[in-house]
Amino acid sequence: MTTTVLKGIEMYIKLAAAEIIGGGVVAFPTETVYGLGANAYDEAAVAKIFEAKGRPADNPLIVHICDKSALSEICTDIPELAYKLADRFWPGPFTMVLPKSDKIPYITSGGLDTVGVRMPSHPVARQLISLCETPIAAPSANLSGSPSPTSARRVFEDMNGRIPYIIDGGECEVGLESTVVAFEDGGVRILRPGGVTKEMLEQVAPRVIIDEGVTGRVSDDIRPASPGMKYKHYAPKAEVILVKGSVEGYRKYVEKNVSEGDFCLVFDASDAVMGVPYVEYGHDPRTQAHMLFEALRELDGRGAHRVFARCPDKNGIGLAVYNRILRAAAFNIVEV
Ligand code: TXA
Ligand code: MG
Repeated sequence: MTTTVLKGIEMYIKLAAAEIIGGGVVAFPTETVYGLGANAYDEAAVAKIFEAKGRPADNPLIVHICDKSALSEICTDIPELAYKLADRFWPGPFTMVLPKSDKIPYITSGGLDTVGVRMPSHPVARQLISLCETPIAAPSANLSGSPSPTSARRVFEDMNGRIPYIIDGGECEVGLESTVVAFEDGGVRILRPGGVTKEMLEQVAPRVIIDEGVTGRVSDDIRPASPGMKYKHYAPKAEVILVKGSVEGYRKYVEKNVSEGDFCLVFDASDAVMGVPYVEYGHDPRTQAHMLFEALRELDGRGAHRVFARCPDKNGIGLAVYNRILRAAAFNIVEV
């Protein structure tokens, strides 16, 4: 008999893996946001994810792997470019949508013939997938519609009583969900911007297109490239107004419109407006990505009714920050 000494987090990862192998659902940290994971091949287990989140059945899940070789088990007709992108951006915050193999049940792919695949870099996520010896389907670990959780505490807020375990791996480094791409005409289309930016993709792919749904509203009568685009997303309970323009313009707008229960969501304290409570989310795009979802949840925790948010730049990972905050604001944007 071999005897293993289970230390700290390793023990919890083993406990969580046993739960997933037994057909259960567990929340775990990744470098992007926390995920709500189950065996991607097990229909009954995947159904529990949809139930725990209150997620619409036609919104597909991302399948997480810990070894590139698993790609050919999950997908078919894989273009050469997909292997190149995997070599460059895996493990990391990068998801590729490809035709699914028969091993992936339709419940996992939201009824589509394609599936999103990602190899995360977070050591806890990788160890968990490796111990389960199966790909793990995992959406973000929030209730459907609310901001994705970037700490175990925030997962607990949404999932307490709904799932048996949350593995606490501290704060997520990136803070926003992975970049999702689909393949077309020898290049890729960005369906959701994230930590792997357009500029980074252009170093590998001959053509990179940003889907209109990234910075615009997807109308009800067209079928979006990514089903997730059509749902209300990342929204705190408060009404959010995205204010685009200089800090002077921002302050004037807030002073003119502010009333009881309003908050400011600013880059830093120097943007604040006298007498109006505020939450900061940082100046540079990386910090904003890291802090945005936590800031939105903090605003809810402080009882904000309405939030005047400073609009971020769209450069680099800033495009991902803009994409999320625009949805948090339900496309309510004013230029000052
Ligand atoms: O960073 C992430 O991607 C996190 C962590 C946990 O890995 N996961 C995540 O999953 O954000 P979720 O379910 O919250 O978002 C998945 C997005 C949705 O917008 C969905 O519509 C899109 O990816 N997606 C998944 N499979 C797709 C497919 N086959 N075709 C088009 N879009 C797809
Ligand atoms: Mg999500």
